[in-house]
Amino acid sequence: MSYSSERPPERVTIPLLQRWKQEGRRVAMTTAYDAVTARITHHIVDIVLVGDSVGNVCLGFDNTLPVSVAMMNHHLEAVARTKPRALLVADMPFLSFHISPEETIRNAGGFLQRGADAVKLEGGSNRVEMVRALVDCDIPVMGHLGLTPQSVNVMGGFKVQGRTTDQAKRLLDDAHHLQEAGCFALVLEGIPAELAARATEYLTIPTIGIGAGPNCSGQVLVFHDILGLIEGYRPKFVRAYANGFQLLQDALSSWVADVREGAFPTPQESYRVPDNVRDEIAKWTPADPS
Ligand code: KIV
Repeated sequence: MSYSSERPPERVTIPLLQRWKQEGRRVAMTTAYDAVTARITHHIVDIVLVGDSVGNVCLGFDNTLPVSVAMMNHHLEAVARTKPRALLVADMPFLSFHISPEETIRNAGGFLQRGADAVKLEGGSNRVEMVRALVDCDIPVMGHLGLTPQSVNVMGGFKVQGRTTDQAKRLLDDAHHLQEAGCFALVLEGIPAELAARATEYLTIPTIGIGAGPNCSGQVLVFHDILGLIEGYRPKFVRAYANGFQLLQDALSSWVADVREGAFPTPQESYRVPDNVRDEIAKWTPADPS
């Protein structure tokens, strides 16, 4: 059997994720917002998310609310051009799935036309109508419950959710309703480990945790957090596997020092002309303007 060289045979698909849930194989998901990060990630992780976290991670916003469909399209297209091996999921930004099923389908369908395999949207039972509309158009949907960053104003900040009995039961009800509506997986963000474990045990679809403890079907962290690229406050659920910020600054400082000392570039890093051209260049004087 021959396969396209651009798409390795082990491409991650939604049926494969469902099988992994049954087999208990844990799923690793991270974010990518451009072609460079996508190429680093997509032969290593199972799911690449073009997250609306691009807003605060890359675009300098305080939260994800200003991120638009046009911005997401721009970043999704860059990632999709790398033809990821991982399942490629595009985040639906604030207001792109709230107004009507028609507008939701058009925005999500646009993501699939740009190369996404699926979309992700935040919210629980209040979003079931939109999830059903998308699934009905063969647009696979990943749900997102718990600390949903687009609800920052309702939550009064980025606070752990589901700590009271009422909140916990509501989250489990929401998870059930999203699965019934056709979601193929759920992100569980910023909730107690026991609650995420109960949801994972109950649901037949995979759960992907972030700040939701170890007993989810998989884990997601933002790429820049895994690599320690973000200076300053680091939430408790983030484990940085490199001090990328320092590493990159050190490399850049070495280059600047070489430039200032005249140690960069060397003859090996420079282009040459043949000897006769070099002699002519040496003899050159400005031509008479007349
Ligand atoms: O936008 C994002 O990066 C996310 C993940 C953190 C789940 O939604």
